[in-house]
Amino acid sequence: METEIIKVGADATGAILEQEGILRAGALLKNGGLVAFPTETVYGLGGNALLPNAAKKIYAAKGRPSDNPLIVHIAELSDLERIAIEIPEAAYTLADRFWPGPLTMILKKSEAVPLETTGGLSTVAVRMPNHPVALALIRAGGGFVAAPSANTSGRPSPTKAAHVIEDLRGKIEVILDGGAVGIGLESTIIDLTEEQPTVLRPGYITLEALEDVIGPVQMDRGLITEDSKVAPKAPGMKYRHYAPKAEMTLIDGAPEDVISYIKELTAEQIAEGRTVGILAAEESISRYPQGLVLCIGSRADAEEIAQHLYDCLRQFDEEKVDVIYSECFSDAGIGQAIRNRLLKAAGHRVLRVP
Ligand code: TXA
Ligand code: MG
Repeated sequence: METEIIKVGADATGAILEQEGILRAGALLKNGGLVAFPTETVYGLGGNALLPNAAKKIYAAKGRPSDNPLIVHIAELSDLERIAIEIPEAAYTLADRFWPGPLTMILKKSEAVPLETTGGLSTVAVRMPNHPVALALIRAGGGFVAAPSANTSGRPSPTKAAHVIEDLRGKIEVILDGGAVGIGLESTIIDLTEEQPTVLRPGYITLEALEDVIGPVQMDRGLITEDSKVAPKAPGMKYRHYAPKAEMTLIDGAPEDVISYIKELTAEQIAEGRTVGILAAEESISRYPQGLVLCIGSRADAEEIAQHLYDCLRQFDEEKVDVIYSECFSDAGIGQAIRNRLLKAAGHRVLRVP
């Protein structure tokens, strides 16, 4: 299949450029086609959420297991009632505060949503993204766009159109190129179908920020326990995911100790003939004499780290390094989500020093 790549964006006033291309892409969605598009978190691979066949095509294009449900993206709050039932008050309170934005809510699904979209579940994930192109596309596409991250299953999520092109060119009808995304990590997922609201995937909106609005929120036990028998509730969180091809290990401890230990490990690997990637903060990159050292951003700027994380992991793939060592970064704020994604990318391999 020939994939059309259309450059899109908004000018300084927020007016959308390439309106015609977005309308054409919307028409394709209505007819069951697939369109990748930018959101404020990561690029999404969109299909019509109300057509069982579109969901099947999404799974095929991504190589994704079909029991891993999709997020339905909407552009109007009033559309929530078409796809969800028994919506609790907390959903409206959260929508009022955080939509459009990087928050996905799990609710009971209505008859309108096919089981293909929800991976067989009776619940549906819903999000209203905060990106002018995404909102325009959703409206042009009929209002309900199922979209997982636009990467091949298992690879790091795409934060630039080039990443989407790498993974999906030739497999989908259109890629809307809106440049680099703003946040760089997937949305926070909150489950509102249980007694107590539960975060199933940490993201830009922290647990504390959610509690400020709706009171007590818990973290899914499957995300925080060391007990690998407790599975995360979001099916997608159980797969090795966000992962570079090389084996990655996180080195945790005081920065000076971490730097010394990574230097030691790197020297050993190189002596044995392997190539090494190092993921480091701006403050420490000059300290590593060997290895392919990538700068993830300043230790003091978690948002910068979030923006660069997936791009760095993809660069390690491109350079075909054999092993990767990563420093650890602050856990505060979006640092929670960064740590969660790093742990998944590393298959939970962490070495603590000293
Ligand atoms: O920021 C984002 O959320 C991006 C952009 C494109 O919006 N989308 C995204 O979708 O990250 P995806 O498919 O890569 O991740 C969706 C996650 C998966 O872990 C999936 O298992 C979980 O949401 N999920 C979806 N529906 C669910 C449901 N009904 N119950 C529990 N988890 C669900
Ligand atoms: Mg994904």
